Amino acid sequence: MSRGRLYRALTVLSMAVGRGPAARAVAASAKLSSDDRVVDIGCGPGTAVRQAASHCSSATGVDPDLAMLRLARWISAARRARNVSWLEGSAAAVPLPDASATVVWALSSAHHWPERAAGWAEARRLLAPGGRLLVVERLTPPGARGHAANGITEGGADRLAAELAEAGFSRVQAEVTKAGRRRIVVVKCAIPGAA
Ligand SMILES: C[S@@+](CC[C@H](N)C(=O)[O-])C[C@H]1O[C@@H](n2cnc3c(N)ncnc32)[C@H](O)[C@@H]1O
Repeated sequence: MSRGRLYRALTVLSMAVGRGPAARAVAASAKLSSDDRVVDIGCGPGTAVRQAASHCSSATGVDPDLAMLRLARWISAARRARNVSWLEGSAAAVPLPDASATVVWALSSAHHWPERAAGWAEARRLLAPGGRLLVVERLTPPGARGHAANGITEGGADRLAAELAEAGFSRVQAEVTKAGRRRIVVVKCAIPGAA
């Protein structure tokens, strides 16, 4: 196996088995209720989608990578996960109607998006009035390189919060929290309207 393929296989494996703490942290931070409808943008193998579905009425994972979606479906079937669905799409183009979600989140995904402003506009379109957006990234130290750089610094979190405010979201707050052995940044915000 080439180095590139080995790296991808290890990355996918770590996403499939190692994202439980971050998924639980974002579900707690979102204060999900049984009425919520969650859309996870860049869902990968879908750990956070299954976590959401155990708290709320429906959870949809969206990802441009068909191999990720196949794995998400396979794991969900093996675990008999309920209320989950999967769609091919990208942050800039999610094949769901306007106002179809009460919560949109993106875990370790937004740093991959080529056009983040289009992703925020799409999140606003998907959210019903009062809906919440949560953007989660691994906290990385300034100057990190390679795999360790896949995330954001505390300064990057402040810039992300400013970006979301600029994109029209309100009540923007950034917090650093523990997820297992890692520290993650959760930037939370909302669109106006009844919650
Ligand atoms: C590091 S993985 C994180 C997966 C999952 N959210 C998790 O935490 O386990 C990043 C995911 O973002 C997806 N992705 C890449 N570009 C994207 C885009 N433009 N829009 C949405 N998702 C994207 C990738 O296919 C991949 O599944």
